[in-house]
Parts: sequence; structure tokens; C-alpha cells
Amino acid sequence: MSTNNGKKGMVVTPWVVSGDIDYEKLIERFGTQRLTSELKDRIAKHAGYMDPQLRRDVFFSHRDVDWWVKQYEEGNTVGLYTGRGPSGSVHLGHLLPWFFTAYLQKAFDADLYFQMTDDEKFLVKDDLSLDQAINYTYDNALDVIACGVVKGKTHIFSDTEDIDKIYKLGIKVAKRITLSTAKAVFGFTDSDNIGLTWYPALQAMTCFLQSEREGKNIPCLIPAAIDQDPYWRVTRDIAEKMGYSKPAQIHGKFLPGLAQGGKMSASQPETAIFTVDEPEKAANKIMSAYTGGQESIKLQKELGGNPTICNIFSYYFYLFEYDDKKLAEIETKCRTGALMCGDCKAHLAKLVKLFLIDFQKKREAAKNQLEDYLIK
Ligand code: TYM
Repeated sequence: MSTNNGKKGMVVTPWVVSGDIDYEKLIERFGTQRLTSELKDRIAKHAGYMDPQLRRDVFFSHRDVDWWVKQYEEGNTVGLYTGRGPSGSVHLGHLLPWFFTAYLQKAFDADLYFQMTDDEKFLVKDDLSLDQAINYTYDNALDVIACGVVKGKTHIFSDTEDIDKIYKLGIKVAKRITLSTAKAVFGFTDSDNIGLTWYPALQAMTCFLQSEREGKNIPCLIPAAIDQDPYWRVTRDIAEKMGYSKPAQIHGKFLPGLAQGGKMSASQPETAIFTVDEPEKAANKIMSAYTGGQESIKLQKELGGNPTICNIFSYYFYLFEYDDKKLAEIETKCRTGALMCGDCKAHLAKLVKLFLIDFQKKREAAKNQLEDYLIK
């Protein structure tokens, strides 16, 4: 696969996210719409409150969300679709779209189809066996459940183990996507295995799965970070030929890793916080994270830090300080040199520990309920 999508510095593909991410440029490059405050208010009205990820523009871009919300407002059933490539443990970045999906699911009373692409990860990763990927499917499903998705309305499925439920729809989609489209969109080369060139049909297929199973057109919305967008461009092109509406998307930003630059990624485990990390170990990782601070306490007091480039500050922003006033206080104290990086990290480490203790309890409880969330 060729992983560079054209512009210097920033790479955003389903497999690689690197460089300084310019979200405004991505809106232009991918041809999406900015989420307007009017649309955010409309979503919040149905939920009864505005999720912090909406308020803070963590979800910042979309295609056809206005249409999807309108369908709901007109009394039609609407559906949600998202997924995970189970190649290892889940990290905090993955939770962002899943928390947001659970919020939308409750607001719009929607069924959620959650795809576990154990086939994709087996095909992409040389060092991952198929059995390992399948094991991660069920392990990662516990994280999805712990995010608060709705029992009875959530259908988690594995591409390999549930192939009988998806293959027919998969080949209907595959027949409509040419190899040259797949090469142009995903950068496949002649040395890629042919499994990879087939796989996009399966990720596209789920956009129509609820419609196909219920025998009627159900508008589908996909909440995910913006790296997954190439799949939806291909899917939208074939939707009408499939007899269904184009799926809508709502795009999220990336939680950064603990090192400088790039998103939190399982392929760099030392720079990620996993939901199964020992809370104490996670706290230690936070304590050694990259910050926007000065080289010495003396300089920090004199010049202040730079929250704009600070990963620690972004964790507060994305997940750990939803009170706008308190967040603004952290920012001001940092910029004016009143807050030292060590103290700021120690406070975050405490919050991360508490979060993990609570999340791990929910994950544990999910073990007894897993069956209720799997596709029937
Ligand atoms: P995967 O496993 O790479 O990622 C799962 C979800 O997490 C998002 N994500 C992040 N969000 C914020 N910050 C980060 N650092 C971060 N890293 C990953 C991804 O955008 C995704 O939403 N091919 C897919 C699996 C899939 C899928 C889908 C994903 C199948 N169907 C539909 C989204 C929607 C994959 O490997 O995701």
C-alpha cells in the first residue's frame, strides 16, 4: 500500500496518520462539510444536552448529517455504524468515537452495527495470526460495551466468525467496485495480497447491513475519526446502485499519543494508554509524556508553557476536563508560568487512574453480558 496521500508533512489514511494534522485542510481535501453550530444544536436538542466532543469540535466535520437528522425528525428509523480493527488492546483514542456513538445512539434511538474487522487486521499485519485477531474481537467488544452502547440495539459482529451474515451483501458491494478505484483510493500496489483489495467491500457493506436485514432503506450514519473517510467516499459512489441512500458521516479528530506528534496508536504501545493498562503503569506513562513546557522550572516560571502543542493539555481537552472554566484555568496558569508541568501531569495521572479503575470495572461486568451484544 502506498501510504502518502499527497501533501507534505501530513498523512491521513486508514493505515497511517502522521505529521501535523491540519483539520481545516482535511475538510478541503476530503470534500466534507464543517459541522455548524446550528447542526450541533439540532443534535443536542434530541440528546437533551450537548456532548463535550460536539461542544469542543472534537467531532468537527460531516457529510449529510443534516439529512440524517431530518430523516429522524420526520419519524423515520435511522441507524448507526462504526467499527474496530482488532489487532491489540483498545487505547483511549478509540474510545472517543465510541463514547460519541453511544451518545448518538441514545439521542436518536438507533440500532448500532459494530464491525470487528479481524480479517482486515490479519491481512494487514504480518505478525498477527488469525486466531489472535479473532481473540481481540471478543476482547475489544468488552471495551465497546463499557462505553455505554445500548443492549438490544447493538449488534457487534466479526467479519470472519459471522461471515454467513455478511458475505452475500459483501459480494454485491464488491461487484460494483473496480480494482482501479480501489487502487486509486487506497493506494494498493501489485505486491499487496489480494485479500486487501477485497477487504474494502466488507467495510463498505456494513453501511447497508441494517437496511438489508430489515428489508427497507434505513439512513445510516458513521461516527469515526477522519482516517476512515476513504471507505465512505467509495461507498457513497455505489450506494444508489445498491438501491440504498448514501451513508452519512460525522468525523472526529485524533487523540495524540504521549510522544511528540502523531495520533495515539496501538502500533506504538509505549506512547499509548490502553484500557487494560495497570492504572499505576498508565500514571507512569503520563508522567513521562511530551509536554509544551520549558526546559527548566526557572524558564517555565519566566516564559510559561505552550498548551497548544502539549499532549497533556490535549488529554484534559479531549477527555479529562469537561468543565470549560477549569480547562481555561489550566490553560491560563500554564501560559503565565504559574503551573509546572510536573504538577499538571500528576493531576492528570490521578484522573487517568480513576478513569481506568472505573472503566475496567465496566469492562469486567461486560464479560457476563457479551452474548447480548453480539449479532444474532
Ligand atoms: P481502528 O481499529 O484503527 O480504529 C477504531 C476507531 O478508532 C478511531 N481512532 C481514533 N480516534 C481518535 N483518536 C485516535 N488516536 C484514534 N485512533 C483510531 C478510528 O477512526 C476508528 O473510528 N478499519 C477500521 C475498522 C472499521 C471501522 C468501521 C471504523 C470497520 N468499519 C466503521 C470506523 C467505522 C479500523 O481498523 O479501525
